[in-house]
Amino acid sequence: MARVQREVDAFLDGVLEIPPDPRVPLYEAMRHAAIGGGKRLRPLLVVAACALFHTDRSRAMRVGAAVECVHVYSLIHDDLPAMDDDDIRRGKPTVHRAFDEATAILAGDSLHALAFEILADDATHEDPFVRTELVRELARAAGPAGMAGGQMMDLGAATASLDISAVTRLQQLKTGALIGFCLDAGAIMGRVPPEGRTPLRGYARDVGLAFQIADDLLDEEGSEAKTGKRVGKDRARGKETFVSLLGRERARQQAELLVGQAVEYLARYGVEADLLREIARFAIDRDH
Ligand code: IPE
Ligand code: IPE
Ligand code: MG
Ligand code: MG
Ligand code: MG
Repeated sequence: MARVQREVDAFLDGVLEIPPDPRVPLYEAMRHAAIGGGKRLRPLLVVAACALFHTDRSRAMRVGAAVECVHVYSLIHDDLPAMDDDDIRRGKPTVHRAFDEATAILAGDSLHALAFEILADDATHEDPFVRTELVRELARAAGPAGMAGGQMMDLGAATASLDISAVTRLQQLKTGALIGFCLDAGAIMGRVPPEGRTPLRGYARDVGLAFQIADDLLDEEGSEAKTGKRVGKDRARGKETFVSLLGRERARQQAELLVGQAVEYLARYGVEADLLREIARFAIDRDH
């Protein structure tokens, strides 16, 4: 994980060189959000999935950096006053606090665009069909059928009363879709035919859900010092989550169950899937 964190930082440092013109605050805001923080779980998942199919590491890192750009963009916008109105992220002021709202919106927009620029570049894969599939799947995972759609449902979760299946669907879109892309990316780069992707899809679905349950538990019982963000916000906003519906204990049990299930999906793989097995545990055994 530490190695992936360093590699993502180095890659983004390289592509986000600050130009000597009036765009300085935009680049500074992008760097503020994207460099030097975060668990980099999504790039790590891409690297771990690519390892199953012996994909070149530097290519895997490019795809990992691309999905991280979409993730960071989603965090910048998630923190805006119009959404969660948060002032701390990754232990630093949120972008709209450190800069201003307009710059935060543009920094998010720019990271979103940068993700697709990275994927579409020849350096990501020599086969244009592979690059196109990566672009299409990331677009799908980020848009209304994925993260953005889940965020829309999440806005309603503060006022509507949702049941377990509605919260599950919300979380699958909000968090699960991007995590799903990370595993799909490994299969796409490894040219695994769609029918061979089923176990990884199952793993991604369960880990994604477990990861978001852990996020909701950390909001309830974690600390600001460790998570690098304000806690107690979901309850304060009356937001329906697994924790609000099931209580902490049953939410934790549910997350445990999902991780066990996720690991079972990897049964056909040997030691080459050990990193994915460890990531599944980490998704819930974490304090940040
Ligand atoms: C936080 O994601 C938002 C969710 C989708 C749960 P992470 O917990 O991966 O945040 P960072 O990237 O480590 O800051
Ligand atoms: C945000 O979920 C998920 C995104 C798509 C950005 P949360 O609102 O629960 O994430 P945190 O708790 O602010 O990191
Ligand atoms: Mg939110
Ligand atoms: Mg939030
Ligand atoms: Mg949260």
